[in-house]
Amino acid sequence: MRQSYCVLICAVLLCGIFGCGGSASTPVTVIKTADGKVSYRQTIQPVLTDSCGGCHSAKRAKGGLNLSSYEGLMKGGATGASVIPGNADESQIIGSVERTKEPHMPPSFAGDMPTQGIAAMRQWINEGALDN
Ligand code: HEC
Repeated sequence: MRQSYCVLICAVLLCGIFGCGGSASTPVTVIKTADGKVSYRQTIQPVLTDSCGGCHSAKRAKGGLNLSSYEGLMKGGATGASVIPGNADESQIIGSVERTKEPHMPPSFAGDMPTQGIAAMRQWINEGALDN
């Protein structure tokens, strides 16, 4: 009993400090540009800010990765590029959020990126990862 309280309180505290990654089922509104492509500014950046901003911002860039701007996302982190335009399958950021490549992101205590956000990011990368 005491132990489960502790786990709950710890999770709440960690979420408070880092911002929660949210849950896989959180709905994401996908907005497209006039040419029918997923919009980075209106769709991808807001999801990254919500799910990852607590640890990957200009102020706190864990793993050297700042996900608060297009430039930061495209620059990547300490181990190199996060996004390979046109190739979502090989992009580190997709492997991380789908938990098929290390490091798995967000870390398990910080929730999940919404499934609809992952699908939108896959499409956006395959459409060329434009600053649109
Ligand atoms: C609670 C803090 C936290 C959250 C939230 C978080 N990350 Fe991370 N992330 C880290 C830490 C710490 C590292 C560096 C440690 C490591 O490489 O294992 C890291 C490293 C990474 C890396 C590897 C960078 C490199 O080049 O080494 C990627 C990619 C990444 N995160 C993506 C994301 C994405 C995308 C999200 C949101 C869906 C996210 N992270 C949410 C803490 C976090």
